[in-house]
Formats: sequence, structure tokens, C-alpha cells
Amino acid sequence: EKGGYEHFMLKEIYEQPKAVRDTISPRIKDGKVVIEELNMSDEEIKAISRIQIVACGSAYHVGISAKYVLEEVAKIPVDVDFASEFRYRNPILDNNALVIIISQSGETADSLAALREAQARGLKVLGIVNVVGSSIAREADNVMYTWAGPEISVATTKAYSTQLSAVYLISILFGQIRGTVTKEAYKNMVKEIQKLPEKIQKILEEKERIQWFANKFASSHDIFFIGRGLDYATCLEGSLKLKEISYIHSEAYAAGELKHGTISLIEKDILVVGVATQEQLYGKLVSNIVEVKSRGAYVMGLTTYGNYAMEDTADFTVYVPKTMSCFMTSLAVIPLQLLAYYVSVAKGLDVDKPRNLAKSVTVE
Ligand code: M6R
Repeated sequence: EKGGYEHFMLKEIYEQPKAVRDTISPRIKDGKVVIEELNMSDEEIKAISRIQIVACGSAYHVGISAKYVLEEVAKIPVDVDFASEFRYRNPILDNNALVIIISQSGETADSLAALREAQARGLKVLGIVNVVGSSIAREADNVMYTWAGPEISVATTKAYSTQLSAVYLISILFGQIRGTVTKEAYKNMVKEIQKLPEKIQKILEEKERIQWFANKFASSHDIFFIGRGLDYATCLEGSLKLKEISYIHSEAYAAGELKHGTISLIEKDILVVGVATQEQLYGKLVSNIVEVKSRGAYVMGLTTYGNYAMEDTADFTVYVPKTMSCFMTSLAVIPLQLLAYYVSVAKGLDVDKPRNLAKSVTVE
């Protein structure tokens, strides 16, 4: 049932082009984004005052990316909360707020409780869910399914990627209806989003380089991920993936925060992964890389093809194809999933069933 792959995780990593395509294509008709399941009129979409995203773990990281994309494209203010925080914090939300709960399993106890809490306050809840007929899917007012198919490995990969795609579709649609994107930009986004599957495929074809690098750093004790903007969201996910299955301590930092404390942890030969795919922030990130390097860090740079200046600064550079900056997380995360996977394999760990973890967290 692993289809010839050594682990479910690798199989699911490889299923990403298809999963992303299956999530996107049914929602694009004649060059337009159409999400029937939203069940929202244009008037309702125009009236949204803010969006509250609630989720746990990797789904929460999708929420962080969603904040950047929705605010940029649809100009709607977005808050993101861990479900375990949201449910107890008495959030201030008016009737025109839209609550989005993101969950692969649809059974995460805190996310389900957050959904009920939102509904008890009279708010409409949209679920972005993978498992059909799960509790969150049944109880949400509307459900947008991610079509990732069954995900077995505890570490999520393809569900995460399809959640990102769902969020992009919503952002493009809301931007169009609210008049915050030009016709030109709209057309471009619709075109670019459909190219993501083949670009993910291309990254997967270069997995040997990551595998080689993972073997080299498998005995690390601490790894830092730094990025700005959407690259920070990518770092959060890359770091969680690594912790979860390789048992290496790692942290993700918004690169500008380094100077406010964390840089004291950087010493000789510590691995720092610098993610730099956001053009407007590229120079800033490069200067952060220079700073950690001067403290002795070994730097893996992750950037887009064409940005070859990175080679002068990083010790090892991984390139991914370019897409619009707002969709870059979908591509930049792939090498980080592979990195976590190959480190875990190199250490001989139980990749699909890491210690102390369950696929769906059904207790608080
Ligand atoms: O099923 P859910 O999406 O609600 O699960 C949320 C988290 O438990 C989940 O994303 C977890 O962080 C993953 N194991 C990360 O790979």
C-alpha cells in the first residue's frame, strides 16, 4: 500500500502535484475561480469585516501564510490563532467576521471546540477540511474540501500543500469580488496557481541534493530557520517537520527578530536555513545571513532560480522555480519536507510514526 515507497511520508510528498491539482482544478471554470461550497453571495463576501483563522500545528502554519496572502490580495484583516488559545481567550469578533477552521483530520479536539465556540457566538464557520464527513466537516456551516486523499504519515505534507491551495483560491476570489485585484493581476494569479503542480514536480526531481545534504547534517543538535514575510511562514513549517520526525531541536525565527535575543545562540557550525523567496525582502534576509555567518553558522540558502547572488553568501544553496511571491510557500516548503524526511531516514527513526505523536489529536 506504500506503492513502492519506503515510507508513507515519501509517497505523500510525491503525491503533492496531484493533490494540489485535484484541489485547484475543480474550482477553476473558464479561467475563473468558482468555489460553490462557500455558499456566500457577493454581498456577503464584500461585507466581511475580518477573517479569524483557527487551527493547530501545520494547519496553523497554513493560517499564517493565509494571513499574508489574504491581506495582500483581498485586503481583509486576518487574525490567526492556535485553536487551544482561541477557545479560551474571549475573542472580540463582530457579526461580519468570517471564521475559518483549517484541519486535515477534521477531528482535532481543540479545533472542533473552537468551531463550536465561534458558532455559539453566532459566527459563521467555514471549514477547510481533508477528511470527508469528519466532525469539523459536519459541524461547520460550509466546508471547502482539500482533495489530498488519505494521509497516513503523522507528519503532514500533501494535506498542508492542499490547504495552501484552498487559501489561495479563496484569496483570489475574495480579491476579485471586493475589487482589490486588477483584471490583469487576477488573470495572472489564475494562470500561475495552475502551474504549481508541475513546479512542485520539478523540485521533487532534484531530491538527491537534499538527501546528500540531510546525511551531512543528520547529527546536528540545533537547527535554525530564518525568513521574512511568507518565508517566515515557510520556516515555521520546515522547523516543525524537522522536529517532529528527526528529533532535532529547531526553531523558526522572523529574521529581523534575531538581533533581539536569539543570535546569542548562534555559534560555530550551527546550521541555519535561510529562506529567501520574497523579492522585496531578499536583500534584508541576505544581510541576516551575513550576520549569522560571521558568528560561525553554516548556512543553507533556499531561494528561487535566478537569484544566484545567494551563492556568495550561503554555504549551500537550494533553488526552486519562481512563481508569484504570494504562492512561494507552496514551492519553498518542498525541499524542507525532503530535508526533514531524509534526516529522519539517516537517523534510522520511525518516519511515519514518530514517538509521542498521533495522527489526529482528539484529546485536548
Ligand atoms: O488534523 P489537523 O490538521 O487538525 O491536525 C493539526 C495538527 O495536529 C497537525 O498539523 C500536526 O501538527 C502535524 N503532525 C504536523 O505534521
